[in-house]
Formats: sequence, C-alpha cells, structure tokens
Amino acid sequence: MLSPEIVQSLVKIIELKDASTAAHTWRVVLYLRTMAEEAKIDHDTIGRLTTAAALHDFGKIDIPDEVLQKPGKLTDDEFEVMKQHTVLGHERLVQMGVDDPVVLNLVRHHHERHDGLGYPDRLGGDRIPLLPRYFAVIDSFDAMTSIRPYRKEVGEEAAKRALAEIHAGAGTRYAPDAVEVFSRLYDSGQLDWILHYFNDQCPVPAFEHGPALQKRKPETAKPA
Ligand SMILES: [Fe+2]
Repeated sequence: MLSPEIVQSLVKIIELKDASTAAHTWRVVLYLRTMAEEAKIDHDTIGRLTTAAALHDFGKIDIPDEVLQKPGKLTDDEFEVMKQHTVLGHERLVQMGVDDPVVLNLVRHHHERHDGLGYPDRLGGDRIPLLPRYFAVIDSFDAMTSIRPYRKEVGEEAAKRALAEIHAGAGTRYAPDAVEVFSRLYDSGQLDWILHYFNDQCPVPAFEHGPALQKRKPETAKPA
C-alpha cells in the first residue's frame, strides 16, 4: 500500500506534467467518496478509493508533452497515444508493487463506457467494476462544471447543464446505476459543498489528511 506521503508526491508529479489542478483531484476524490458512502460501500474500500481517485491519471506522466499539452483537438493518432495513459498508469503502479484492485481497476478502467465503446479494454455493462463506473460520471461532471476561461456558465447553471448531459448519456456512455446514484446525491444537495466551495481557486488540504478526510466544507475555501 502506498503511503499518503508517496501518493501526495505522485499527485504533485501528475499536476506538474498535466497542468491539472489540485482542486480537480480533490473534487473527484470527494465526489467518489460521497457516491461510495451513498452506495453503502464498506469503510475499508472507501479509504482505499481516495488513493485510487487521486492517481487515476497517473499514466499521463508517460504521455509526450506535444500530445498532453496540445491546445487544440487531438488527431486520431494523437488520441490513440493519449488513450495509453490508462494502461501505462496501471503498468507503472504494478511495477511499484501496488496490488490493490481498487486502485489498479480505477486507473485502468476510468475511461470505459457502459456500451463497450470506451478504452482500453472495451469493457461494457457490469464488466466494468463499480468504482470506475461511478468515476466516469464524476470525471465528466467535473470537467463540465470546473471554471475554465472559455466557459460562460459556472456554478448552478453549469451543473444543471452537466447533469442533463449525463442523463442523456445514461445507458450508452454512462452506467445507469452510476447516473442514478450521482443524480440522487445532486438533487438532495449533498454535492453542493464540493461543487460550490471547492473550486479551482481554493487552497486544498495536504494529502496526509486524505484518508481521514471528513465530509465537510473546507474551512479555508471560499466561493469563486
Ligand atoms: Fe484519464
């Protein structure tokens, strides 16, 4: 099992390479934990999925910068290279001695689709493990609701639009059970604190608190 300090260092390496934000990492961790709690997943697994979600894009450290940092749309060939981040991340973690299926499955299968058209293994339906099924919804929702220079809608407006797109993809891109759990949480307001108070400008907690992180509004975070 990787120590929190090692996971923190690996997350920093991913952030430097991918220019992703620590806030994005924390949001996906917290969304996934909230979904897992709603689905009554056992406490031990919920602890391990923090590491899994934090490292989901670990394989991007092996993707060439000209593909990873390309501002425009990727060509088909470039997209094939990009898709490799799932397999490369999985391989690297195995080489590092990670054998936790919660972590390995999420890193490898977070881009699988319910209809079997995802990657890398074109798994579909129930062949996709539960947490990667949940994660696919979370990753899309966060991409559609995080603050970007080109996006006009933010907050509530962006979230409603994102949720509509996720509903439209239930049964094709997304697993219906994952859409159902996410939607129920959204409608009940249980995701609001993550969406509104944990934006890309917020300071984030140190990773060593990660496994014990409680569901609460970060004290230092302010809305955008
Ligand atoms: Fe990914």
